Formats: sequence, structure tokens, C-alpha cells
Amino acid sequence: MGRLDGKVAVVTGASKGIGSGIATVFAQEGAKVVAAARGEEVLGFAAKLREAGFDVTGVRCDVSSYDDCARMAETAEEAYGHVDILDCNAGICVLDDFLTGSDTWRDSHIDINIKGVWNACKAVAPFIVKAGGGAIVITSSVTGDMVADPGEVAYATTKAALVGFTKALARELAPKNIRVNCICPGYVRTPLVEGMAKQSDPDDPERAIRAIASAVPLGRLGTPEECGKLCAFLASDDASYLTGIQAVIDGGSTLPETTSMGQ
Ligand SMILES: NC(=O)c1ccc[n+]([C@@H]2O[C@H](COP(=O)([O-])OP(=O)(O)OC[C@H]3O[C@@H](n4cnc5c(N)ncnc54)[C@H](O)[C@@H]3O)[C@@H](O)[C@H]2O)c1
Repeated sequence: MGRLDGKVAVVTGASKGIGSGIATVFAQEGAKVVAAARGEEVLGFAAKLREAGFDVTGVRCDVSSYDDCARMAETAEEAYGHVDILDCNAGICVLDDFLTGSDTWRDSHIDINIKGVWNACKAVAPFIVKAGGGAIVITSSVTGDMVADPGEVAYATTKAALVGFTKALARELAPKNIRVNCICPGYVRTPLVEGMAKQSDPDDPERAIRAIASAVPLGRLGTPEECGKLCAFLASDDASYLTGIQAVIDGGSTLPETTSMGQ
């Protein structure tokens, strides 16, 4: 018995990184999964999961387009007859200086990280209402609401916004029997973080990864599957009385009062 047996779940940003972990764990937990992402690699990702015996449909969707999100929702309904779960995970993080960074840099984060979640929820939630209720899980971050590093102003702004979005939507959709929660990951080893490591230490990106790990009380970065397990819990009936929460999953990285004392 899986936690998500009989459920249909739509996952955005599912082609790699955290989203691929979420889609894989959802499938392992018994859900039929619509895996969506911007590029066509998501179709290959879905095909691999099907080869492994899971029921997964890949769909291309740029979440910054509402029309794409509407098509994604219709694809799910057509393929499986109902939609119970939406996991809004697609997002970008590009570091730049606030004083010299362009408006395009700012707007790309707003368009994908904020409007993308808004679009996906707006397109998919009516189907979840039709199914009698369900759950929405949103990938925010510890960045923005809890911590921030130089270069992260655009990203942090959008991820903090998702905490407010989660709470307001949770309040509004509760009477429709839809729970809305967000996860706030610390560093998770994904192509995104590997790209950031390359940017900060081009000569030895692994050195940058080790430096991140050494600042985490559990001594390592998280995995996409660990995030997937948390999302599966939040999406499942085991979390039936949880709504509007931010679940921090960071190996304790936001716990230290300083980075150097007590070591
Ligand atoms: N990796 C981390 O340490 C970390 C920490 C906290 C939060 N997050 C968040 O987790 C989510 C996934 O991050 P990741 O590290 O796996 O990133 P990633 O770059 O490895 O993967 C991002 C995924 O999102 C998709 N995507 C990007 N823009 C899209 C768009 N416009 N429409 C549809 N899909 C789009 C990509 O195709 C890909 O599937 C993001 O929202 C990110 O902000 C990541």
C-alpha cells in the first residue's frame, strides 16, 4: 500500500533535480503522475519511469504561461479522469548583484517562481475542487523567509512571496477541502546547485559543494528523494490536519546561531 494509492498528481519542474525526486517518490507511493517541465527532457524522464512500471505522463509546460498550465491540467484530466494533487516545484535561481542587476533578471524570477506557481494553481485547483478536494504542495525555500546570501535578492523575494501565497491560498481553499502547504529546502544537490557551485568556484566546484556541506549540522546536502518523501507526506491523507504550513527540510542548516561557534 502506497500513501498515494489511487491519487493523480501533477508535478511541475519534474524533469530533474528536486522535481524528479518528487515525481519518482509520488509514483513509488502509488500515484499516477503527470510530470511537467519546460524542456522536452521531461518526456524522456516520464518514459523512464514508465519503463520502471509506473504510470507517468510527461508534458511540456512553461509555468510562466497560463495557457501552458491550462493545457497541463487538461492533459491530466484527460489521461486519468481526475486530479487530486498539485506539486508546484518549478523554479529558477540566478545570482546577480542588486545594484547592477537588470530588470529582466528580476522579472524572470517573478514570472517563473511567483506567477508560475500562481498559474499552475489557478489552472489545476478547479480540477481538484471537482474531485472533491485534495492537496497542493509548493516548493519555497529557506532562502528569503529565513536566510539569504549576496546575489539572492531576486530569488529570495520570490521564495518569501510563496510563503504568503501558501498561507493565503490555504485559508481560501480550506472550505473546498484542499490543503495547501509549502516545503522550504536548504541546499539540495541538484543541477541548479551544481551550477551555483560552478559559478562560485569555477576551478573546483566540488570544493564549493564541500563548503556548503560543512556548514550544515547534518554534514551534507539534501537529496531530491528526501524532498519527495516530505512532499508525498504533505500530499497524503497522513497530513490531513496540516494546511498553511512551511515545512523546513534543511539538515539543520538554519539552526546555528553563528557559523563558527561551538564546533
Ligand atoms: N536545490 C536546492 O538547493 C533548492 C533549495 C531550495 C529550494 N529549491 C527550489 O526547488 C525547486 C527545484 O530546484 P532544483 O534545484 O531541482 O532546480 P533544477 O534547475 O535542478 O530543476 C528545475 C526544474 O524546474 C523546471 N523549470 C524551470 N523553469 C521552468 C518553467 N518556466 N516552467 C516549467 N518548468 C520549469 C526545469 O525544467 C527543471 O525540471 C525550485 O523551485 C527551487 O527554487 C531548490
